[in-house]
Amino acid sequence: MFLSSCRASPSIILYIVSLYVYGTLGISNSSTPPSNLPPAVPSIFTVEANILIDAPIDVVWNVLLGFPNYPDWNPFVRSQVVTDSLYIPTQDQKAAENLRLIITSQIPPLTPPVTASSLGDPLNEHITRENITHLQPGIYRVAWQDLSLDALIQAERWSALSVFVDQGGDSLTFYESREEYNGVLAGTVQDLEGAGLLEGFQAQASALKARAEA
Ligand SMILES: *[C@@H]1O[C@H](CO)[C@@H](O)[C@H](O)[C@H]1NC(C)=O
Repeated sequence: MFLSSCRASPSIILYIVSLYVYGTLGISNSSTPPSNLPPAVPSIFTVEANILIDAPIDVVWNVLLGFPNYPDWNPFVRSQVVTDSLYIPTQDQKAAENLRLIITSQIPPLTPPVTASSLGDPLNEHITRENITHLQPGIYRVAWQDLSLDALIQAERWSALSVFVDQGGDSLTFYESREEYNGVLAGTVQDLEGAGLLEGFQAQASALKARAEA
């Protein structure tokens, strides 16, 4: 038993050879692109979504950080306003670390496609106040953290982009977003909103793709 499991099967040898070939060419041959998110922290629950987008990484980055345009396309985050620490909106609405966000989401998300005039359901509207904790344009990563309930729940949402070359040699952008929830209320949020949040993350990913590819 032990001996036979030590013998490398032909498919394992092929796999190692292909790793070597693609490794030396610097091309990833995996169907799942490598992640550009920071390592996950231990959390009570996690919501994540990702998608491949056929648009240049800088185009996707500008859609992701173009918060004033979120109402035009985002079925989940209906509005995301950049403010100072007193929650007064900034003039230029540009993201920067230590600025705040007032985020209005629909959980579950609206049915796409949406426009700025799509009406939300007031019963599904959630407003949170968040802090931009990381803005790393050089490596296409950004994160914001919920400040609304601090001691009872901690939630930080990371978004990351990376370039992925597919098997046909086409260069795509890989979008990933992940939010990790901790604190005594995290389990409650999971029970009440876990499914709606996941739907929201997925709807935002699909809508980001549609917007960036248009
Ligand atoms: C907001 O994020 C910045 C940058 O990470 C950090 O220095 C600051 O302490 C945070 N502020 C709050 C209120 O959490």
